[in-house]
Amino acid sequence: EKDGYAHYMEKEIYEQPRALRNTMTGRIDEAGQKVVFPDLQLPAETIRSIEKIYIVACGTAYHAGLIGKHVIESLARIPVEVDVASEFRYRRPLFGPNTLTIAVSQSGETADTLAAMREAKRNGSVVLAITNVVGSSIAREADEVITTNAGPEIAVASTKAYTSQLIAFYLWGMYLAQEKAALAPAEIASLIQSLQQLPGQVEDILAHAQQLRQFAEAIKDERHLFFIGRGIDHAVSMEGSLKLKEISYIHSEAYAAGELKHGTLALIEEGTRVVALSTQDALHEKMISNITEVKARGANVLGITHEDHVDLHRSVDDVCLIPKTDALFTPVLAVIPLQLIAYYTSVVLGNDVDRPRNLAKSVTVE
Ligand code: F6R
Repeated sequence: EKDGYAHYMEKEIYEQPRALRNTMTGRIDEAGQKVVFPDLQLPAETIRSIEKIYIVACGTAYHAGLIGKHVIESLARIPVEVDVASEFRYRRPLFGPNTLTIAVSQSGETADTLAAMREAKRNGSVVLAITNVVGSSIAREADEVITTNAGPEIAVASTKAYTSQLIAFYLWGMYLAQEKAALAPAEIASLIQSLQQLPGQVEDILAHAQQLRQFAEAIKDERHLFFIGRGIDHAVSMEGSLKLKEISYIHSEAYAAGELKHGTLALIEEGTRVVALSTQDALHEKMISNITEVKARGANVLGITHEDHVDLHRSVDDVCLIPKTDALFTPVLAVIPLQLIAYYTSVVLGNDVDRPRNLAKSVTVE
């Protein structure tokens, strides 16, 4: 059932191109011009009147939510707050008459996420679930559901569910922008075109996976690492750091690259490993300065960037190149090397990759 792969996690990493295509299926019109959601009942009027959005989720799904915020704010210009589900109820969140709450959950059974969405419903908010499991508790209790259709995810460390959640957010952000006329039809069509290229681009990255096996060998004895990035790259760094922690048991921290100099830079010493993401053209120069700051303190840096920034070679020790895409879509590509780093590190350390210690696939207690 692992189809020749050594672990479910490896199989699920390689299933991503298909999972992403499945999340898109039926949600783009035949001409490739518009996003459609045939299974959503939300009246157009309700969609146009949304004034604020809460995203509630845990762990990896929360990290997808952080990207979702960037996407929705930038495409549809609606303010979005992202909350860790276990915190949401206890901070007395403010709901207006036109607040939409989005609950994100692979399993659809996470107790914290369920409790957060019930709190939203109690406050009169419409709840939209993004989930991978049809008929799950979260799917049943939500007003509307977008299923990710990634197929069953067995490994505890989430991979294809995360990238499928990102696709769901892209489609939803584009749909809001389209219904609110926040973007011109030509802009939507061009985004759709880039979106449809992502599965093939993920295949290209997976074809060069071996490069990251060497990196895993190099970091397996480290006590701690840093992942740095700006904007959505920071959110992707958080996911890369979580993945590495949960299956390799090596401590790491994700940092907004510009924030390092406000304290954390003190932890960088000769040989400290840093994974630096620079996928955003508008932030690339700033990232180079931040990389120079850690290099000056002796860090050993792996840079992850796209093909136009091959010049990054001059500033780092190693470069991992990903294909070029629209600035908002880079997380789908940038996370793949991070998943592979976590996977290979866990393998070389001889850990139980699919069932890491202390963790359960579905967390049904609060
Ligand atoms: C990490 C991981 C967890 C889950 C979290 C939420 O790889 O799998 O952080 O993402 O427990 O689970 P779901 O999405 O099922 O609500």
